[in-house]
Amino acid sequence: MKRVLKWLGIAVLAIVLLIGGFALYVQFRSLPTYDVAVPSVTIERTPERIARGRHLAMSLCAECHRHPTTRTLSGTQMLDLPEQFGIAYSKNITNHPTKGIGAWKDGELLWLLRTGIHPKTGQYVPPWMPKFIHMSDEDLQSIVAWLRSDDGMVSSTDQDNIESSPSWFAKFLVTIAFKPFDYPASPIPQPDTTNLVTYGKYLATGVYDCYACHSADIASMNQLEPEKTPGFFGGGTQMLDVNRNPMYASNITFDKTHGIGTWTEQQFITALRDGFRPNGTPIKYPMPRGVHMSDLELRAMYAYIKTVPTSTNVVPASHVYTPAAGATVGEKAYLSYGCVNCHGSKGIGYGDLRLADKKYPDDSTLISVIRNIRSFYPESTMPIWEGRIKEDEYASLAAHVRKLGRATQ
Ligand code: HEC
Ligand code: HEC
Ligand code: HEC
Repeated sequence: MKRVLKWLGIAVLAIVLLIGGFALYVQFRSLPTYDVAVPSVTIERTPERIARGRHLAMSLCAECHRHPTTRTLSGTQMLDLPEQFGIAYSKNITNHPTKGIGAWKDGELLWLLRTGIHPKTGQYVPPWMPKFIHMSDEDLQSIVAWLRSDDGMVSSTDQDNIESSPSWFAKFLVTIAFKPFDYPASPIPQPDTTNLVTYGKYLATGVYDCYACHSADIASMNQLEPEKTPGFFGGGTQMLDVNRNPMYASNITFDKTHGIGTWTEQQFITALRDGFRPNGTPIKYPMPRGVHMSDLELRAMYAYIKTVPTSTNVVPASHVYTPAAGATVGEKAYLSYGCVNCHGSKGIGYGDLRLADKKYPDDSTLISVIRNIRSFYPESTMPIWEGRIKEDEYASLAAHVRKLGRATQ
């Protein structure tokens, strides 16, 4: 008996040492590297492609790559990344020749976006930069055509890149679970846009990747076969708002009690485009804003998600901000409407409030900006609050915006 125990002890020790050794290996190795075989393609930059590319990228890439202060795709911190993955910064993808992607070949961009392997270093780009393996060739080429265009959003911006620092857990995942994808061996055709369900599936699982956030856990998403992702569209993934407080993606299957089963197509369109639920409550960051999505795209995603098996998953409640004792009406409104989820407790996050005080010295202009930002910035992803915020809250809210802006100068 004693002998058996001794051997068992040695076996356990060996396993512990092996695991420990592997843990250290993961800790000290950099991200894995792979061979690079960049396709030699030159994408013709037709006006149609540039327009289509802009349409897609303004929803897809801007969400992560747009800097709140430069307002171009010059890269920024991924504030919504859960802490267990470490700290990540998106990169400068403007046309700057050295700091951006101005000198990259078209094929290098396609290679990175498809495989997830960095064409310059061969390193696997961690899971926080999505890989577009199901996107049609035409759509992906349109995005690349737009990145090379003279659009203001990608105009050369002199901003240095900041390296990400993946956590042990993130490195562990890319060592054992997340692998790069093969460059497609055959062309990926454009989906049938006249069949709403087919087109909606393409958009929700191959372009806008709604399922990545709206399933059980980002770590278990099945990118090759999205519909096999555990908890597909049943929600529950934890993410963070810009103050790094927990937010949970909703159950958006058509279950009538736990999902969006009672929503009409129009209510779904309003939710995605305007950012409000049928009951008038704001859908908060980090849920991306669909301001650039077309009616057809939204109708298609509604039709497709309706066909997804329903789930009764109950999603944990997202962080609720409680105002401090003696908070003004404006401070309370800043928290309850979710300004804090985008602009942060200090006024800088996904949107920057530091200049608002100087830019709009008189209150009536500042209030007009808050009411309807799109009459100032036509493409802004900030919700239009006109009719959503109580009239007697605006003046105090404007005062709070000034206070935040001044405090963080
Ligand atoms: C969910 C956030 C997210 C989205 C969406 C996203 N990116 Fe990224 N991207 C990142 C992060 C983070 C990195 C840096 C990865 C790292 O840590 O090395 C990155 C890196 C890159 C790089 C490498 C640049 C370099 O100099 O190394 C390119 C090119 C790029 N992204 C292009 C795009 C394009 C084009 C889109 C839209 C089709 C897009 N990204 C969408 C987060 C994102
Ligand atoms: C970056 C992660 C992320 C992505 C990508 C994403 N969502 Fe969301 N979504 C969220 C979060 C988080 C919430 C919850 C927000 C809240 O609590 O106010 C949410 C809420 C929603 C809601 C509101 C449901 C409810 O009543 O709470 C709908 C509808 C929705 N998302 C649809 C979509 C669709 C359609 C797509 C793809 C076009 C999508 N989402 C992509 C994170 C995401
Ligand atoms: C979904 C994210 C989001 C929410 C929620 C949001 N904003 Fe914004 N806001 C932005 C972005 C992004 C900008 C920058 C304008 C742009 O480039 O689109 C902005 C700009 C502004 C500006 C103008 C800043 C300037 O320099 O011109 C003010 C003022 C402002 N927001 C106030 C508010 C208030 C008050 C609330 C809540 C009632 C709010 N925002 C809610 C994203 C948001």
